[in-house]
Amino acid sequence: MILADLKFIQVEFGSLPYKNLISFRYSNLRAPLNLEWSKADLEDEDKQFHFAVYLNNEIIGCCVLKKINDSKIRLRQMAVIGKYRGMKVGTYIIKKAEDFCQKLGIIEIEITARYYALQFYKKNGYTSYGDIFIDVTLESVKMKKLLNNNTNV
Ligand SMILES: CC(C)(COP(=O)(O)OP(=O)(O)OC[C@H]1O[C@@H](n2cnc3c(N)ncnc32)[C@H](O)[C@@H]1OP(=O)(O)O)[C@@H](O)C(=O)NCCC(=O)NCCS
Repeated sequence: MILADLKFIQVEFGSLPYKNLISFRYSNLRAPLNLEWSKADLEDEDKQFHFAVYLNNEIIGCCVLKKINDSKIRLRQMAVIGKYRGMKVGTYIIKKAEDFCQKLGIIEIEITARYYALQFYKKNGYTSYGDIFIDVTLESVKMKKLLNNNTNV
């Protein structure tokens, strides 16, 4: 797998690619926990930004961005399909998501990170804060990163 072959595509809410993305998110983020979607998982998704990573025509990764206010956004629903984990696809997704945020003028990204993925986010410049808590059955922690918006992007 070559990172240059990946395509980071914004997907329109309600479209067929969005439905495929929901199915990908379910398989990679909810089914492994034996969970169905909760109402909170999918509410307000029409107001959020949805991204799929394609390798050829297959979705191999995803993330969703939810605007909190003019300067802050939440990165959620971040996943890479099992067979491509550990190959820097997650890092590629984070960088593309950050580029998108910078273009919107966002200065802070926040994440509710699964505790086991803490090192992944730390390696990408995110800092944890606050106590560990349970989210979707898993130990989780809040993390954030300030983007440098001094440069023209
Ligand atoms: C977490 C996840 C998105 C990371 O994506 P990835 O493509 O595997 O990560 P990368 O290959 O870009 O990893 C970058 C670095 O983070 C490290 N890393 C990645 N996942 C890690 C983990 N679970 N624990 C510790 N380190 C991890 C890698 O070893 C790598 O370190 P290196 O730069 O020293 O080599 C992916 O493993 C995943 O989808 N997991 C299941 C779903 C999930 O947990 N999503 C996050 C919800 S908060």
